[in-house]
Amino acid sequence: MGILVSKPTEIALVVTAMVLIGVAFTLVYPHLSERSEEPLLDWENTAVVARGATLYAEQCSSCHGYIGGSQNTNDMNNIRVSAPSHGADGHTWEHPDFALVQLTKTGEVADLCRDVSESEMPEFGQALSDREIVDVLSYIKSTWSENIRVRHDEINLLYEGQNTAVRELLDLSDS
Ligand code: HEC
Repeated sequence: MGILVSKPTEIALVVTAMVLIGVAFTLVYPHLSERSEEPLLDWENTAVVARGATLYAEQCSSCHGYIGGSQNTNDMNNIRVSAPSHGADGHTWEHPDFALVQLTKTGEVADLCRDVSESEMPEFGQALSDREIVDVLSYIKSTWSENIRVRHDEINLLYEGQNTAVRELLDLSDS
């Protein structure tokens, strides 16, 4: 006495439970990992990069120079010498996503950048929307070589908490 279900039924129940747990895990897991896999700088999205390239030409190139491919094509006679190149030869890629967004929004780069004394970087927080700032930074990332992008991704992993916090403050709806 005391046995409520027969042995075969018990085994069938355990097997069913295990299958259900397996199915539930398969369904839920991709959603759990989705957030950290989705990059803020959407450099593979051609529409984002095209919008960013136009903005870059209009808003950034006068100081930072033009960039194309992994090759830096700055016209040194035409740019302010103190503005660093955003190409692979510069150090933009050394900043995690959240720092790039903040630098562009507030123009406050002095504390975060090496060898920088006085900032002449404008504050774009009013002139550009969050969407536009992410577009232009995505374009910049799209111009880096594969090697530099991988290193930037590795830097981002170290700052995942800050990246997530800043991302939640951004309004990335299409304007
Ligand atoms: C009026 C000139 C000027 C314009 C226009 C300008 N910048 Fe800058 N920017 C600078 C200077 C100068 C620095 C170097 C920092 C300093 O001197 O404190 C800088 C630094 C930066 C940095 C940090 C350094 C680095 O390479 O990571 C980022 C990021 C940046 N700018 C992004 C942008 C973006 C994006 C735009 C266009 C939306 C832009 N800047 C337009 C002058 C400018």
